[in-house]
Amino acid sequence: MRKYNIAVVGALGAVGREMLKTLEQREFPVEVIKPLDILSNAGTEIIFQGKPVVVQAAETGAFKDVDIALFSAGADASKILAPIAVAEGAIVVDNSSAWRMDDDVPLVIPEVNPDALSWHKGLIANPNCSTIQMLVALKPLHDQYGIKRIVVSTYQAVSGTGQKAIDELNQQIQDYVSASPIRSNVYPYQIAFNALPHIDIFLENNYTKEEMKMVHETNKILDKNISVSATTVRIPVFRSHSESINVEMKKPFVLDEIFTILKSAPGVVVVDNPAEAQYPMAIEAEGQDSVFVGRIRRDLSIENGLNLWVVADNLRKGAALNAVQIAETLVQKNLL
Ligand SMILES: NC(=O)c1ccc[n+]([C@@H]2O[C@H](COP(=O)([O-])OP(=O)(O)OC[C@H]3O[C@@H](n4cnc5c(N)ncnc54)[C@H](OP(=O)(O)O)[C@@H]3O)[C@@H](O)[C@H]2O)c1
Repeated sequence: MRKYNIAVVGALGAVGREMLKTLEQREFPVEVIKPLDILSNAGTEIIFQGKPVVVQAAETGAFKDVDIALFSAGADASKILAPIAVAEGAIVVDNSSAWRMDDDVPLVIPEVNPDALSWHKGLIANPNCSTIQMLVALKPLHDQYGIKRIVVSTYQAVSGTGQKAIDELNQQIQDYVSASPIRSNVYPYQIAFNALPHIDIFLENNYTKEEMKMVHETNKILDKNISVSATTVRIPVFRSHSESINVEMKKPFVLDEIFTILKSAPGVVVVDNPAEAQYPMAIEAEGQDSVFVGRIRRDLSIENGLNLWVVADNLRKGAALNAVQIAETLVQKNLL
């Protein structure tokens, strides 16, 4: 079996570390692992498959011997470094928002639109974490009933902002307990014991960029005719995003059928037993590969309306796992 030289760019970040772990856990056929990060972090040692590996600088020349480069170093780094990596012969799977809406770049969730990989030109984009988990759950319903409109509200973990936000929530909790002053550097306000209806920057239309990502990415990946209205909220949870999703379908449905479809959908686990108070929760999704769906019930206020509660680990299916699955699909379909 052929093995591949894999670079992880942003290897010391929250997603980069999860990518390395995911490659190990899924036994991706790695010949050489090349952790890359910003120059100031070069020289740091990480452990991969039980052996120490030194982090190198992500710069021109670093991708010459690389088959696949998994990028998670932020949009600014991706804009500069991804074209360099492609020119040096690597296929890039980019986690940032830099290339997602580029017409020449497939935006892929392997359970939803794997065929888009066939037209890649060296650069493939990983969707936003909140879009990924929503579309893994909604794709089988769209296939069966046709989705007309989605109204989604998210409850997003701080790890979605990266390692510095994880550290900030930890620090604020400790400062609160010890009655010390609480400082906010990553977020505009205290995140501990709070909810911020503000993810990414505000746009001219008064939506945030995160909210509009959910709109545009859904249209690019699933169907350009679906209307999406999103409200994205940061909450003081370390890992896993939760989403309240209201869907209006074109065709009528029987609720039992929805359960059957979701139970056999790839990547989905149904957790829905109100009698036993069982539903998806962030703390149970942490470290898991699946998208968990529960609170499945008819929207009583509208014809063909459905409500769902969807939870997934943002660092895992929302980022690292989806990128590694893309790499696996490239290998399986001989698209390297
Ligand atoms: N976290 C999530 O759930 C999630 C989900 C989907 C997509 N993403 C995307 O993935 C990317 C990384 O997110 P993250 O949460 O892992 O952030 P993070 O924890 O801040 O990690 C980013 C890493 O990249 C490094 N870096 C910064 N500039 C670089 C450069 N020019 N070249 C190489 N490395 C550089 C950072 O170093 P320093 O810390 O020293 O600056 C850090 O080690 C972002 O684009 C984010 O939008 C994240």
